Order: sequence, then structure tokens, then C-alpha cells
Amino acid sequence: MASPAGRVGTGGRCPEIPEFLAGAGGRPVPAVGFGTASSPFVEEEVRAAVLAALEVGYRHVDTASLYRSERAVGEAVAEAVRRGIVASREEVFVTTKMWCSQSHPDLVLPSIRESLQKLQMEYVDLYLIHWPAAAKPGKLEFPIKREDIMPLDLSGVWRAMEECQRLGLARKIGVSNFTTTKLQDLLAIAEIPPAVNQVEMNPSWQQKKIIEFCKDKGIHVTACSPLGGPGMSNAVLQSEVLEEISKARGKSVAQISLRWIYEQGASMVVKSLKRERIKENMEIFDWELSDEDHSKISQIPQHKKVTVTDILSPDGASSVDHAELDVIEM
Ligand SMILES: NC(=O)c1ccc[n+]([C@@H]2O[C@H](COP(=O)([O-])OP(=O)(O)OC[C@H]3O[C@@H](n4cnc5c(N)ncnc54)[C@H](OP(=O)(O)O)[C@@H]3O)[C@@H](O)[C@H]2O)c1
Repeated sequence: MASPAGRVGTGGRCPEIPEFLAGAGGRPVPAVGFGTASSPFVEEEVRAAVLAALEVGYRHVDTASLYRSERAVGEAVAEAVRRGIVASREEVFVTTKMWCSQSHPDLVLPSIRESLQKLQMEYVDLYLIHWPAAAKPGKLEFPIKREDIMPLDLSGVWRAMEECQRLGLARKIGVSNFTTTKLQDLLAIAEIPPAVNQVEMNPSWQQKKIIEFCKDKGIHVTACSPLGGPGMSNAVLQSEVLEEISKARGKSVAQISLRWIYEQGASMVVKSLKRERIKENMEIFDWELSDEDHSKISQIPQHKKVTVTDILSPDGASSVDHAELDVIEM
């Protein structure tokens, strides 16, 4: 399964990383990108990791207003240009996201401008609605106070997202953590359809329904938490099935997970602060999984790591039904 649907080669920009078409405008999305959500967040560590990623060949960096990593990303890209690691900022595909407290029609443009100011860039390649919910406007809060969560004004917010693209502040616009129901609502009102849906996806949460739906509607899927996300308990890195395939193939468990995602036709954003791992995570393009490997992976028990409960404070009461805001879908 060497060439997943939608793959368009490297476009001459990333010598080692293939790209996927996504949406009408802008450049294709590199199949492997670098994630910058890190807790505890240490700006210098993230800046060094982004620079290391660009050095070994990554050409997509994923950030968000919530991660507080936009400044570090911008500085690392500028440093990479100064050092000749990349020819120009245009060579790097930069994604950022608008948090729930910014997801209000009148706050979208100020929010992308604030992100661009931190990134020290004229535009981002992709701007995403981070979560299908809004929160009381104000500071970037995580977790969100239960009483502050509210339904998203999808139509008003998407009009403003479209304006970001028309003004050239974002080359593409998209969403994150959207279920097929939410995507249907969006497609019904969008003049510019979302180019991308970024969702948790890995062998332990395979997102078959989303993948099928998005393929049908021409929305590209990017996997986040492709290695199961942070924390000691990790259903991907500790999977016995993946361990067995890893031993047989002579690849790491992480590489098996990432290769599996690529073979589903999705791109991914993967995070590590360790140089060897950063390099290892992009070495997935000169080998492939067998049908038998796929069959074994399809049997892995499914478990989603992040649900709406994880973005809300444990105490307090909300006035909205959490089922409305949740991201679980089998
Ligand atoms: N849209 C959303 O709502 C959303 C949600 C979650 C994440 N994201 C994005 O997706 C990115 C990646 O997801 P993630 O940060 O949750 O975690 P992840 O990429 O699934 O990685 C999980 C952990 O695995 C470790 N790791 C990395 N490479 C490894 C390797 N080769 N072998 C063993 N361990 C390895 C990393 O720790 P070390 O640093 O110690 O190597 C990392 O903390 C984020 O940084 C963010 O940009 C988006």
C-alpha cells in the first residue's frame, strides 16, 4: 500500500515527506508535521525542538493559541531561514488554531491577527477552529470552567473564518475535533468548505467513520496524538499488537503507528522533544505494512483519550448538554 489516495508526491519542497491535497487554495499538506503541545510548556525547549524538526526535514509545524507555542514556532522558523535550513518561510506549512474563548464571530479576525503577530508571519497555511464549542470570551483557559462553556455560533464563526481566507491571513481554513454530524452542519452553511479536520487518530482510535465521511466530502484528515498523546498510560506505545508487528518489521512501535496512519490517507502531527525520536518519526516512507499487519491492527480495542470532560474543570455546572459538544463517534 505504497501510495495512499490523495497523495501528491513531495512537490519539490520537502525532499523526504510526501504531501496530500487539501481544499482548493494554498499548498498541499505534508504527510508528517511537528506538534508543539507540550506540558509543562518550556518555550526554549519547544523552540529548539521545532528547529531540530526543520533541520531533519519536517516542513509542517502545528501550533495553537492554547499551546502558547506560537512565538517559539515563529522564532524557530525565522532562525531556520537565517541558517539556510529552509529557503524561506513559504517552505514551511504552518497550522494554528483558535481556542473556544476566541470562537465568537467578532473575535475570529482579532484572534488570527494576534496569532500572526506572535508567529511574526503574514499568513498561516491553515487556521482551525480548535473544538466544536465556544467559551466565555476572555483569557485562554484550560481546562474551561464548566459555567463558561457554550454552544458554538457555527454560522457566524465560519463566515469570519472565510473572511480570514479571503483576506489572505489563512491560505486554508478548517476545523478540529469535529464529528460527522458537526461537519454536516458546517457543510450545509459553508461557502468555503473546510479543507481539513484535525482529529485524534491512531491505531487505538481509528476514526473509521470520520475517515470515510471526509473522503466522501473531500475533507483531508490530519491525525493528532498519533502516538496516543502524552502521559504514562499509552494505548498506542504500550500496545502488544503493535509491539509484535514492530519486532517482525524491525521498526519502532511509534513508526508502526505513524505508517498505519499514513496508509489510511491521513497526514499527522507528531510531537517529541527528543532529537532521535523527531528523526525516527519521519522515517516511515520507504517501507510499508502488510495486509496481515492491517488485519491485526484492525482488531486493537478502541479507546478515545480526550473527550469533552477533559477540557472542562471538574467542578461547577454547565447550562449546555455536553453530548452536544463531544467529539466521540464510532
Ligand atoms: N487538535 C487538537 O485538539 C489536538 C489535540 C492533541 C494534540 N494536538 C496536536 O498533535 C500533536 C501531537 O499530539 P500529542 O502531543 O498529544 O502526542 P503524540 O504525538 O501522540 O506523542 C505522545 C508522546 O510520545 C512521545 N514520543 C514521540 N515520539 C516517540 C517515539 N518515537 N518513541 C516513543 N515515544 C515517542 C512524546 O514524548 P517525548 O517528547 O518525551 O518524546 C510525546 O509526548 C500535539 O503536539 C498538537 O500539536 C492537537
